[in-house]
Amino acid sequence: MQVPPYLVNEHYDDRYFDVVNAIEEAKHIFFRGAGIMDILSAAGAKRKEFRIGETGFGAGRLLIALMDFLDKCGLTDIAITYNSVELHPITSERMASILEGFRTEAGPLIDLLVRNYRRVEISRPGWHQVHLTRPFGILTLNLWIGEALEMVHALTIPCDAWFLDGHGPKKNPDMWRRELLMAIGEKTVIGGACATFTVAGAVRRGLIAAGFSVEQRPGVGGKKSVLRGLKR
Ligand SMILES: C[S@@+](CC[C@H](N)C(=O)[O-])C[C@H]1O[C@@H](n2cnc3c(N)ncnc32)[C@H](O)[C@@H]1O
Repeated sequence: MQVPPYLVNEHYDDRYFDVVNAIEEAKHIFFRGAGIMDILSAAGAKRKEFRIGETGFGAGRLLIALMDFLDKCGLTDIAITYNSVELHPITSERMASILEGFRTEAGPLIDLLVRNYRRVEISRPGWHQVHLTRPFGILTLNLWIGEALEMVHALTIPCDAWFLDGHGPKKNPDMWRRELLMAIGEKTVIGGACATFTVAGAVRRGLIAAGFSVEQRPGVGGKKSVLRGLKR
C-alpha cells in the first residue's frame, strides 16, 4: 500500500504509526502494557489524579486512543495530566489529515483534539496547556515543544506511567539514549510503569539501568513482542 507523504515524519523518514488498527494497537501496547486500569483502580476511590508521560506527541493518536479507552472503562471524575513532548510539531491541518483514518472509530475525539490543538502556538518552545473534558473526567495535556530530555527535566511531579513512542531506535536513537531513559526512571513513581513497542536490546538495558524491571509481552499487528517496564 502506498503511504501518503503526510503520514511520514520527514525528520526521521518513519511513519508516525502503523496506519492499520493504530487505535487498537495503542490500547494493547501502551494502556494494557502499562496496566493503566490497574493503576487507576488500585488507587481506589480516594485518588482521582493520575500523571502520564509520553515521549513523542506526533499526531496525538495515542492521546485519542487513551481518551477512547478511558471513556469506555466506566470510571468517572478522574483527572489525567498528560505530559508529552514534540521537537517537530505539526500543524493542526496535518494532524487532522493524519487522524482522518480513524474518523469512524473516534470522530468526536479527533474534532475535540484538533479544535484545541489549533490554539497551541507551535512556534513557541516550552509548555503549552490544553484542557479536554470527557465522560471519565478531565484530561490536561501539557505539551512541551522542544527536546524530550528538557521536558522530563521540567517535570516537577513524577508520572504514574510512561508511553515511549519516539520512532524506532534505529531511526531515532536520541529518543532512547541512556541519559533520557535514566531521567524518565527518576520521574516515575515506585510501582509506576512504562510501555513501548520496541524490544531492542539497548532499550531493554537502558530501562533496566533506569530502575525498571522489564518484561516482553506478545505483540499485535506486525509486532511479535512489545515491552513493559515496572519501576522497582
Ligand atoms: C512515532 S512519532 C509519535 C507518534 C505519536 N505518539 C502518535 O501517537 O501520534 C515520534 C515523535 O517523536 C518526535 N521526536 C523525535 N525525537 C524527539 C526528541 N528528541 N524530542 C522530542 N520529540 C521528538 C517526532 O518528531 C515524532 O513526532
